[in-house]
Amino acid sequence: MDANQLRTYEDNPAVAKAFAEEMVQQIEELTKIQDRISIAVSGGSTPKLLFELLGKEYRERIDWGKLHFFWVDDRCVPADSPESNYGQTKSLLFDHVDLPEKNIFWVQGEKDPAQESQRYESLIREWFQIAETELPEFDLLFLGMGTDGHTASIFPHEMELLNSNRLCEVATHPETGQKRITLTGPVINAAAKVYFLITGSSKKKILDQILNQKDGFLSYPAAHIHPSLPAKIYTDKAAVGIS
Ligand code: 6PG
Repeated sequence: MDANQLRTYEDNPAVAKAFAEEMVQQIEELTKIQDRISIAVSGGSTPKLLFELLGKEYRERIDWGKLHFFWVDDRCVPADSPESNYGQTKSLLFDHVDLPEKNIFWVQGEKDPAQESQRYESLIREWFQIAETELPEFDLLFLGMGTDGHTASIFPHEMELLNSNRLCEVATHPETGQKRITLTGPVINAAAKVYFLITGSSKKKILDQILNQKDGFLSYPAAHIHPSLPAKIYTDKAAVGIS
């Protein structure tokens, strides 16, 4: 994470609006030069407003048929579980726009985690037409950050996922033990444009520690996200300690 890439707004709604504008501008640019645009999204609570906004105010501005959605991570739960990142994105966004279902590549959370991780990895390789030794380059990828400094579903107790030679791995939530499927560090860092969406005072301490490279910052997975083009960090005042 590069402190120079910080973009701070009043609150979560303002972050959602600003990032929706950025996303749409990027999509409009890509639409001019590509037939297919790959977007990898995160879950959790932060992007809820973003998904709602895209589904309500940007329906007409986006050529949805060109977009192809993947997940940075998802929980190993059925799609109708309130825990499902796919289920959340579907109800807030996909159910409101003309996006063909064939363009949505969700993690099948109801399946066996190890088998699903392999299936998802194969699906990504096939979509990007890449060999075993290559990495996919997602056009746009956005991340959140947990209060423990995790990102995607790469948690501090599983730092090895940052350097995995696989595209996807099974992760374990440190408190609940919940299994998750996550993209690995090399895949995240290979994306063309990476963004963080980080809001709320609960993230302030960790964000400060990472941005200012304070003692122990490297123990947080979010500190190890270094795509070629530095990730833009969309935050609100609460997350950067501005009252
Ligand atoms: C998930 C996310 C995860 C999330 C962070 C922040 O599946 O939960 O992908 O990495 O981005 O946990 O979550 P909040 O936005 O809820 O704070």
